[in-house]
Amino acid sequence: METKVICPGSFDPVTLGHIDIITRASKMFDHVIVGVLKNAAKTPSFTTEERMELLAQATKGLDNIEIVGFDGLLAYYAREKGVTAIVKGLRAVSDFEYEFQQALTNKKLNPELETVFLTCKADFMYLSSSMVKQVAALGGDISSFVPECVHDEILKRLKNL
Ligand code: PNS
Repeated sequence: METKVICPGSFDPVTLGHIDIITRASKMFDHVIVGVLKNAAKTPSFTTEERMELLAQATKGLDNIEIVGFDGLLAYYAREKGVTAIVKGLRAVSDFEYEFQQALTNKKLNPELETVFLTCKADFMYLSSSMVKQVAALGGDISSFVPECVHDEILKRLKNL
């Protein structure tokens, strides 16, 4: 049976931490959907289409990846698409409570759906999209935070905010 999972997130914008998790998931599972979703607690800086395009460029070498964007509930989308697990990266302990709450909510909405956490690479423990945006806004160097192929595009876009 084909193993199909989803890596969901805001990806606003994609970071090297996201790419690390997506790449590792693509080695573990047959098919990985990268879902660009709405986080009700955040107002995105990039449109859904921009975030999807940046992800498409940054994952070009991975052939079992599909990038989608939608506004609905993750748990129901997973059921519709035959996804068996959500794959997420876990950074510091501070992520845990929020991630645990989401995992339990998704399980309640779709009892067939598992959530798998991959421990993030030590290099990316501190990394987040909002940190990238803050550093860029203040003229800092973001080259060690985002994929090289989309670095200029992200920077240019953030300067125009
Ligand atoms: O990268 P983020 O912002 O931490 O990702 C959070 C995200 C987008 C995965 C989460 O907000 C989500 O699943 N949104 C989709 C709507 C949904 O299903 N909400 C209930 C999840 S508990």
